[in-house]
Amino acid sequence: MKLTFTIQGGDFTNAGHPSSEVKKVLKQLVIDGKTIKNIVIALYEAEVNVVAHAWKGTVTVEIDEKKITMLVEDEGPGIPDIALAMQAGYSTASKKVREMGFGAGMGLPNIKKNTDELFIESEVDKGTKVKMINYF
Ligand SMILES: Nc1ncnc2c1ncn2[C@@H]1O[C@H](COP(=O)(O)OP(=O)(O)OP(=O)(O)O)[C@@H](O)[C@H]1O
Ligand SMILES: [Mg+2]
Repeated sequence: MKLTFTIQGGDFTNAGHPSSEVKKVLKQLVIDGKTIKNIVIALYEAEVNVVAHAWKGTVTVEIDEKKITMLVEDEGPGIPDIALAMQAGYSTASKKVREMGFGAGMGLPNIKKNTDELFIESEVDKGTKVKMINYF
């Protein structure tokens, strides 16, 4: 099964739409609750990062019998130093983003904690690709 969604930068109103749709699908597939929770947290954080830090993006989710593969790709400023961005508390979030209640610098560490496999690729001034895999 393959699902695709688009994300608009700055659109906090719809942030969380892809992850809530994926949650519904996984519940129907009778996936273990803890596994669903991990997947939804990881995908939500990746979605919010596109809304908060990038211009626009796409989410592609593939589900098979064994695993879920989630690819969040954006066009945006990119991440110059991924290791630094992965550190808990590191954030470049704007004042506006902080006012929306984001910008604690915990999204990427949270993704790492909640996925089985994480791959991040980024090119400055082009965009970022975050691939997450969770096994059922
Ligand atoms: N898709 C992205 N495009 C550009 N920069 C990003 C992206 N995702 C993360 N970053 C950079 O990595 C930093 C850390 O991301 P992280 O998700 O951990 O924290 P945050 O988004 O700033 O705050 P929080 O997720 O706690 O609300 C961001 O502040 C930003 O500089
Ligand atoms: Mg974040």
